[in-house]
Amino acid sequence: MSLFVHTPPPTPQHTLRLGVNIDHVATLRNARGGNYPDPVAIALCALEAGADSITAHLREDRRHIRDDDMRRLRHELAALSAPLNMEMAATPEMQKIALSLAPHACCLVPERREELTTEGGLNVADHLDVLTPYVKTLVQSGIRVSLFIDPVPQHIFAAAQTGAPVVELHTGTYVTRYLAGDITYLEELERLQQAAYQASSLGLEVHAGHGLTFETVTPIARISQIRELNIGHFLISQAITDGLMTVVRTMKRCMTEGRQQRITEAQSVKVLPA
Ligand code: PXP
Repeated sequence: MSLFVHTPPPTPQHTLRLGVNIDHVATLRNARGGNYPDPVAIALCALEAGADSITAHLREDRRHIRDDDMRRLRHELAALSAPLNMEMAATPEMQKIALSLAPHACCLVPERREELTTEGGLNVADHLDVLTPYVKTLVQSGIRVSLFIDPVPQHIFAAAQTGAPVVELHTGTYVTRYLAGDITYLEELERLQQAAYQASSLGLEVHAGHGLTFETVTPIARISQIRELNIGHFLISQAITDGLMTVVRTMKRCMTEGRQQRITEAQSVKVLPA
């Protein structure tokens, strides 16, 4: 694998890019221990459908994406000049992997073994001493580093101090409130707007993500400072909803074909072992 970091061409100012997170394709594959659905094949489908990049979270416990998935993603995406965004905890092990993999981007997230998903943003303000050199090493190797943070002014200021060029704003609270019919989602939306403005004024590129759905994405897409959204769980869930009718029809067709070639009773007696 080449250590040359892949850098895609810059996108125009007002474009909003979509990064598709394929972690839960791996979750489904791992449930049976086989090799399908293959997250790499699904990543290629997502790109063909218009996704601008692929995100995969290599967790410390490897509960979904595995090291080999990352290597294959890196290889296949580089061939298509498509950016790979590696989500990871800021640990020495992950830094080593990122430096050898050389993805286009790394998004640093907090990680707790017992959590179901990334539950909150990084506490950048309290960990500047650790995060600043960590970010610097990745940035110096040519990786575009992003810090996943809650829309809180102190973390945005701190993120800028680390030298990371990008922040990803956590949209989870906004989405949860919106989907629960809690009107205070508007306050959280306002916080996200303010945060995007603040981050952009500090020269940071602004991304956002977590929990986004068809319903909740539009108000976020209106925030002009946001350049990229990373979306996973809903897309993979919705793909099942949208795709199940097609695959059930195909399965019925295969069954009908088999039935049409059915083995007669006389034939089955012949093939039985003596
Ligand atoms: N952005 C970050 C930093 C994340 O940790 C996640 C979840 O892995 C996402 C975006 C995507 O969230 P979801 O799967 O809920 O769309």
